[in-house]
Amino acid sequence: MNDARAVLARELAIDTIDDRLYGSFVEHLGRAVYGGLYEPGHPLADREGFRGDVLDYVRALNTPIVRYPGGNFVSGYQWEDGVGPLEARPRRLDLAWKTLESNAFGTDEFVRWCRKAGTEPMMAINLGTRGVDEARSLVEYCNHPSGTKYSDWRIENGYAEPHNINVWCLGNEMDGDWQIGHKTAEEYGRLAEGAAKVMRWVDPTIEIVACGSSSRAMSTFPQWEATVLEHTYAHVDYISLHTYYGNRDGNTAHFLAQSIGMDSFIEEVVATCDFIRAKKRQKKRMMLSFDEWNVWFHSNQADREQPPWQQAPPLLEDLYTLEDALVVGCMLISLIKHCDRVRIACLAQLVNVIAPIFTATGGGIVKQTTYFPFQHASRYGRGIALDMKVDSPSYEDPVYDAVPYVEAVGVLAEDHGELTAFAVNRNQEETVVLDLDLRDFALARVAEHIALAHPDLKAVNTLNNPDQVAPCALNDSVEEAAGRTRIALPPASWNVVRFSLEA
Ligand code: AHR
Repeated sequence: MNDARAVLARELAIDTIDDRLYGSFVEHLGRAVYGGLYEPGHPLADREGFRGDVLDYVRALNTPIVRYPGGNFVSGYQWEDGVGPLEARPRRLDLAWKTLESNAFGTDEFVRWCRKAGTEPMMAINLGTRGVDEARSLVEYCNHPSGTKYSDWRIENGYAEPHNINVWCLGNEMDGDWQIGHKTAEEYGRLAEGAAKVMRWVDPTIEIVACGSSSRAMSTFPQWEATVLEHTYAHVDYISLHTYYGNRDGNTAHFLAQSIGMDSFIEEVVATCDFIRAKKRQKKRMMLSFDEWNVWFHSNQADREQPPWQQAPPLLEDLYTLEDALVVGCMLISLIKHCDRVRIACLAQLVNVIAPIFTATGGGIVKQTTYFPFQHASRYGRGIALDMKVDSPSYEDPVYDAVPYVEAVGVLAEDHGELTAFAVNRNQEETVVLDLDLRDFALARVAEHIALAHPDLKAVNTLNNPDQVAPCALNDSVEEAAGRTRIALPPASWNVVRFSLEA
């Protein structure tokens, strides 16, 4: 196998990464909230019913923003049901996931939980069954200081200070016919425009995300984005993207290549935004919020077999393999490579539901394989993204043509004297050497090479065997000589190569 060659240089800077690229998502779905974030009576729950072990694992991810409460759930949600005295909160049918919603956890609890987890809430409003009126009252409830119906209601509920929620989503996946209150682009564009205006009239400081397509495969993509932005361009800051990948036919080489489709999706949405910008003679450049992304397929069949109307049933409980973690790693690299336009991204989701953290209700907790690339990117991927101009040997794929074995991106955190290269080796059999030209980082020395790998691509972490797949520091993988640095990337691996910039 030939080496992959790449460069790390300041002049290849893409942009400063917005920390919110490492956001996540919690929906009222399955055991994400009940049995995940919130489980009064669990031995590790605090006085508010928040699981302490979950809080610890989330804090260790240092995720700066968490989207809530959906997802498909939000399109039928009445937020008023989830605030105020617990005993007065109604039980409802959640039509999105065919479950029972107790409303024991709602907006105020979520904001409290975020404060404890060291993260910021990102709130979605219901534009499925509701509209402009709900949009303005929820912003008033959350962000207006006092002296009005909804702000005083928040105070009465025990929250004297406004929640000051900064980022707001105008509904969820409104292009999908599975969505409660599904709309055409024209219908949604008009409604989103109306909602965005009143929300900003209540609080001019907020940032607003309009719904883009639920996936690149939607037949309405990218006309949906164009029509929605025709109506909303002046009133919103971001357009959303959602993508999930799966290895349904057991073709791992193809599965590992799918982040190339994510690159294209981002670039196509950027092109559509810029077309509308030109058409409307707008100065503002529209940014992207990739607010749902992940691997999701393992649980599909089990979910079809779940009886309806249970409370917090096990839904979307994907058990992630090493190969899933590699796809997540490639997706993170794709996001970092596009950080000049993707400002927010949310790994969907955070706990139990297609999540890096898995709990047993009443029991323990485990880090799934996907926890690690996300944690590494969140921890070491803050700073300036560097395009590494990777020239890698490749393999053929019927959809993506020549797929490079090595996918990589650099991040420079000059203030901390650190430079990091994230790399995935897609070669399932062989080590690939990444031959790096460090150019203007003459003093850079490898401080650490962390790799996530396993001889079995289907290896998983479970409550009984939690450490099967874990990152480890490699000792003999780096050669530094004659101005070049050669790093051996193990077969099928996620790699974090950390350089110290100080002599
Ligand atoms: O994250 C799971 C679901 O995926 C969300 O509810 C929906 O927005 C998407 O289809």
